[in-house]
Order: sequence, then structure tokens, then C-alpha cells
Amino acid sequence: MCGIVGYVGPAPAADIILAGLKRLEYRGYDSAGIAVVTSDSGTGSGTDSGTGSGTDSGTGSGTDSGTDRAADRPGRRIELVKRAGKIANLAEVLQSEPMPADGVGIGHTRWATHGVPNDLNAHPHLSYDGRVAVVHNGILENHALLRAGLAEAGITTVSDTDTEVAAHLLAQELASGQDGAGADGAGADGAVDLAGAMRAVCNRLDGAFTLVAVDRDDPRVVVGARRNSPLVVGVGDGENYLASDVAAFIDHTRDAIELGQDQVVEIRADGVRVTGFDGAPATTTAYHVDWDTSAAQKDGFDWFMRKEIYEQPKAVADTLLGRYDTDGSLRLDELRIPEYELRLIDKIIIVACGTAFYSGLVAKYAIEHWTRIACEVELAHEFRYRDPILSGRTLVVCISQSGETADTLMAIRHASEQGARVLAICNTNGSTIPRESDAVIYTHAGPEIGVASTKGFTTQLTACYLLGLYLAQVRSTLFGDEIAVLMAELERMPQTIQRVLDEAEPVLELAADFADQPSVLFLGRHVGYPVALEGALKLKELAYIHAEGFAAGELKHGPIALIEDGLPVFVVVPPQGRDMLHDKVVSNIAEIRARGALTAVLAEEDDEAIPALADVWIRLPKVSTLLQPLAAIVPLQLFACELATRKGHDVDQPRNLAKSVTVE
Ligand code: F6R
Repeated sequence: MCGIVGYVGPAPAADIILAGLKRLEYRGYDSAGIAVVTSDSGTGSGTDSGTGSGTDSGTGSGTDSGTDRAADRPGRRIELVKRAGKIANLAEVLQSEPMPADGVGIGHTRWATHGVPNDLNAHPHLSYDGRVAVVHNGILENHALLRAGLAEAGITTVSDTDTEVAAHLLAQELASGQDGAGADGAGADGAVDLAGAMRAVCNRLDGAFTLVAVDRDDPRVVVGARRNSPLVVGVGDGENYLASDVAAFIDHTRDAIELGQDQVVEIRADGVRVTGFDGAPATTTAYHVDWDTSAAQKDGFDWFMRKEIYEQPKAVADTLLGRYDTDGSLRLDELRIPEYELRLIDKIIIVACGTAFYSGLVAKYAIEHWTRIACEVELAHEFRYRDPILSGRTLVVCISQSGETADTLMAIRHASEQGARVLAICNTNGSTIPRESDAVIYTHAGPEIGVASTKGFTTQLTACYLLGLYLAQVRSTLFGDEIAVLMAELERMPQTIQRVLDEAEPVLELAADFADQPSVLFLGRHVGYPVALEGALKLKELAYIHAEGFAAGELKHGPIALIEDGLPVFVVVPPQGRDMLHDKVVSNIAEIRARGALTAVLAEEDDEAIPALADVWIRLPKVSTLLQPLAAIVPLQLFACELATRKGHDVDQPRNLAKSVTVE
């Protein structure tokens, strides 16, 4: 949610930042902007509107008009360009009016929180005196109070954003000349520098934020700060980067540094320095990114999402890799919770949001069946604020692709405070959620760039199955040979998913037939129910049509009233002959067909009950019930992707959404 890039080095910062922003556009696409510190002797107007210099008087209103390039002191200034809409709009302006080639700058792609998505509210924001430019991800909860304080000092804000307040506060701190943290934040001449000002300001802010800033008067440094919101350092050779996600700098370096909570980082061309908000030097963790640029490219697919759907066989195989020994036992080396503690667990609570929540709903069926531990699944934002009953014997499993979802993060913090053990299932190395958990099982999906989660979901399911089987092994609720049979089937799932993909043509045709439908329903029972919910979510978020998932057994308690002639209904059918619910779901299909529904049935390829009931039969390979979601979700992902494509929507960047939701 909002993407940030900062750069210091010999290359033109604007070019590096623009390319980085394009890689981060999945995080928000309401507006984009870049600020560069330049000693270019241009007038600084060089602009569309011809105005836009910050005043140097220290008072008065800022003049950051939102569409202007800001000029300031003769000889040195911050040049700024920002535009509402997608990054393409910004790129178009830069094409005709390139920014100066200086090598220090910051950029931002926005998912709007405070203030409508227009040029004025786009980031970066300039301080009242034109000295500082700031980009921000998150929400400054006490912005109104701080704004009132600024007004008393004669500084009025020009945008509707909370971010602008931070720009003015930083400029005030720099003007005051004192390091508010009282530590070694002063520059060589004893005056406070941008890092010191950043520490002082951060100590006054409430909420979740990543802030990244440049100082007109120190054109060698970019300073970042983070609390509850992501920021990573890219370590180059004679150049360094800051970004919300490594994808922004992966073309230039794969060496990264994780920043901790409440830390300030200064990057210069020749070094990186990290301190806490108190000014004390901080320890950080360096890591090497194990995927390369090709993983962040479309590879001939029309959408990242479609590419990611087709990557699922590999992603699931990678998530299984190395976790099952030749001696027939599961190995989860990274699970830092000792086995004796896992034996004492008396309750599991899975917390997550959106698609990750639906993977948790599937996991409940498997975990309870295999381990006999009671397992609840709850939306993280509901769990956090309802006073849940937790103890040292509760295992809270949080599932998050991004590892940055604020709702999930707040839920696990609450769980830890109440004494529960927290285990993360996460796809993003070094992100906040795994860092704040007692243990982590990483999924190995590779970067997921399409905003709608696909391989995130199937790899989360895979990790949940591994966790369930591991707990069953540790607690001896399954025999070794039972685990071996299940693991063998799990290890065959990449081929099974591949078959579903290879035979997807009928689903694509169906998307063409249904493109003008105003509403689609999805039904399932048992693990088919979360699959129905996820199928409906995919369609809502991509095709913008009414789509709802129901437990098929619940239909007769009300929702059946929605069924009318020609209404498309997808139904997930459990395996025939091996699942007691098969016949009940078949009866549910008969009930809706009798009322005119058009049925698209996902059922095993040799299910004899289907020909008489299905208008369209989407054939699934034979798998056991608990693992069926890994195969059954794939046609529904493809259906949503194809239908949205046919409607002319931007599949990778659906309206109003952003990947990585870092606000509560
Ligand atoms: C839907 C989707 C979202 C995410 C949810 C949680 O396609 O992607 O519903 O699943 O926002 O995100 P993570 O898994 O990053 O915590």
C-alpha cells in the first residue's frame, strides 16, 4: 500500500526511481511523483504551471501546488514532478520534460488514504520552506493535532494529506538546529541533520508509517524511517537504495538490509547508517534476494496474474522442497518452537485477511482432522479487537503473503502480549510479520505482483498442510505410514495442478459466455466452501460484478431465494465414493437447477452424477478431499482473470485495491 523508492548514487536518480516505481505500482496506483535534489542552475520553474517554489521565509503557506516543480535557493533546489493516476502519466511528463540528472532523489506511487487522488495530494510533499521533500506510506494518526500546532506557528498546509505535516515538521526541526533525539544526529558542523530531524519528528508521530525524505541543503543523503510499515535497503556498489519492496531495486542489486521497527536509515553513495528513534546505533540483518529480475517480468503473459496462475505447479513444488526427508519424516527446520511445546498446544487460532483467510479456512479442516487440536479461523481485524481467550498453550498461526498486512500484524502483536505463541506463514522474506513471530514457515511462491492473490493462496495452503502433518507427526495423531501416503499425494499436487492448467480451455470459453452476467454465485461444502468464497472474491475484485460464495448446505436457509432463471452458479463437488458429502452436494445442484440456475460444476473427471446435472462440467483430477482445494481453485482463478480481461479491466491493478494493505 503505497510504494516508495529512494536513491543515492552516480546515476540520474529520476530514471532509477521511475523504473523502481513501475515495479512497485502494484502497491497503489492513484498517483505518482518524484523529487530530485539538484544543483542544476535551472530556474526551477521549468514547469507546467510555472510556479511552485517553496518560500524561504520559514512562515506562510507552502506552495506545493501538486503539479509544479519546486525551485528554491539559487544554486540548489528540490525539483518535483507528480501526477494523479498511474505511473504512465508521470512517465509521459518526464518524457517531454526530463528531470535534472542529479543522483539523489525519492519517489512514490500512492494508494490514497487522506485526500482524494489528485495532483495536489500526490507525493512527494514539500515543506513550507522548500527545503525538504517527503514521501510516506501509512497513516499519521495524530496529523490533525500536529497540523494545528503548525498553524499556530503560521504554517498552513496546502494538501489534504497527513503526509504534508511530516514535511513541515522536518523543516521546522532542521530550522531549529537541534537534534530532537538528543543523540548523535547532528551534522559535522553541529547543526541538526536530516536524520536527526527525522528521529525527532518520528518521536512525535502516532500511527503506522514509512517516511523517506531528502534535504535540499544536503544533496548527498536520503533518509528513511519506519514504524509498522515496510522499508528495505538495497546495497549497491557506490550507490544505495531504499524501497518498500526489493522488487524496486532488483535490477541493480540483490543485496538487501532488513530494517527493524522504529529505525532511521541514512543512505549515501558510499554507506548506510541505521539508528533507532532514540539515536542509538541499531543492528540490522543483511540478506541476499534469491530471485532475479525475470521473476518480476510478465514473460509473454498478458498479465502478471495469469503468469502467476501458471506458476503454481512450481510454486507449490518449491514450498514442499526440502521439507520431507527420505526417512519418511517431515522437517520444518525453521520452526523454532520446540517439539515439547507443540505437544502442549491445546488450541490453534488462525488469523489472516482476504485470500489468506480463506486458505486458513481450508487449513482448519485438515489441521483438526489430522491433529485433533481445536482450530479456529478468524479475520485478523475482528480477532484483534474482540478480547480473544488466549494462553501460553494457544498457537496463533498468522497467514500473510506480503508479511506487512497491518490488520494481521496488530492481531499477532495482541496475541503475543496475551502470551500465545505465534507462527507465521509468509511469502516475503524479512517482512515485519515473520520478524515479529516466534516462528515462520516461508512459502516459496516468488514475488506475487498481480494484486489479486493466486500462487499466494495455493502455497499458503501447501504450508498449512505441511504444518498440520508436522503437528500430527510430533503429537503422534497420525501413524508414519499415514503421513507418508498424504505426503506422497501432496508431492504429486504440482503435476495435478499442471493438468488442471493444461485442460483449462472450457473455463476460458465459459468466461466469454458469462462476460455480461451481472451476478455469479459459488457453492461448496467442507473444504469446497472456502474455495467457493475465494472464487467469489476473485470475481468481485477483478470483474467488479456481484459474486458470492455460500456453504451449499446453507442455501436452503435463505440464499436460495436468489436463484432465478439463467443465474450462473459454480459448485465445487467433493470426490465421488470417497466423501460422504458428495451426494449431498449433488442434491444441492439438483435444487438450484430446478429453479433455473445455470450450473458450472467442478467435479472429478469420472463422477457419474455430473452429466445429468451440469450445464458445464469442469473436470478435476482425482485427489483426496482435503487436498482438493489446491486443484479446484485454479479454474476459478482463470475464470476471473479471463472474464475481467474480456471486460477490458486492468487485471493486475484492479480499481481501489493495492497489494500489501499497511493500514488498519
Ligand atoms: C485478494 C488478496 C487479498 C489479500 C489480503 C491479505 O486477492 O490478495 O485479499 O489476500 O489483503 O494479504 P496478505 O496475504 O499479504 O496478508
